[in-house]
Amino acid sequence: MTKRVTKAIIPAAGLGTRFLPATKAVPKEMLPIVDVPTIQLVVEEAVRAGARQVVVINGRHKQEIENHFDYAVELEQNLREKGKEATLREMEAITESVSLISVRQKRPLGLGHAVLCGRDVVGEEPFAVLLGDDLIDDGGGEPGIGQLARVYEETGAGAVAVMEVPPGSEHMYGIVDGEEVQDGRIRIRDMVEKPSPGTAPTRLAVIGRYVLPPEIWPMLESTEPGHGGEIQLTDALRELAAGPGLYGVRVDGERHDAGDKLGFLRANIAYALKRPELRDGVLAMLREMSGSPDSSG
Ligand code: G1P
Repeated sequence: MTKRVTKAIIPAAGLGTRFLPATKAVPKEMLPIVDVPTIQLVVEEAVRAGARQVVVINGRHKQEIENHFDYAVELEQNLREKGKEATLREMEAITESVSLISVRQKRPLGLGHAVLCGRDVVGEEPFAVLLGDDLIDDGGGEPGIGQLARVYEETGAGAVAVMEVPPGSEHMYGIVDGEEVQDGRIRIRDMVEKPSPGTAPTRLAVIGRYVLPPEIWPMLESTEPGHGGEIQLTDALRELAAGPGLYGVRVDGERHDAGDKLGFLRANIAYALKRPELRDGVLAMLREMSGSPDSSG
């Protein structure tokens, strides 16, 4: 019997240099998709999939992220006085949905090292890893990370989310190689982090969701710096694939790359279009901006 996945690690120690100056004083994870910080969307995905404890691996922006998931007494009092009960409840729900623990990554040694920083909190249990740059909109279906947890719970092997990426973009991802064993499930034989152009074995890229067994800890511990001189999660996963086993899972849902400027703008528009109170306004705005005639007029 495998254990249920109830713990999630969210690495959030990056400097966010791609979004400067916005990220000079504000963590990248707090940049909003419409009006919700990206990290809240990711935490909600984990919670909907059964996570009860979220470990945020922080760098210098520890405070802002902790505050977001804590009560804001003055704000809540103000909302109460103004009778804004719905907003008040929404704010309290953010805090009450999850127990958040933050761990400081003291040195930026790479994603593998960031995940390893969560070891003492997670312990000998399976756990999820969610990268905030990847948003997976499941449209109210099964959360992306939940789809991976299900594979882990069925097989006892680790699982990573994968998707086919356009030719020529493989060098931006961890790429997996393996065989499709059943619909949407690939038994991973090997992986490579950000292969040089023209060398990728497939176009199947890892998108930032992982469910890992505790066997990964000693593997991470002994992982040497790899691509870019950083301790790469992908390199520890290669060992997991060669030993206890690792599946790539094509998850259902729309993936947004919120770590890229265009992807971030697209995610904002896509999420706004799903909000009934914004949809018509956004469509009208897009028509006006693109110069197309208003179809309703
Ligand atoms: C990380 C991982 C990479 C993965 C990607 C998904 O890279 O190292 O394997 O494909 O996330 O977004 P990053 O984008 O943080 O450089």
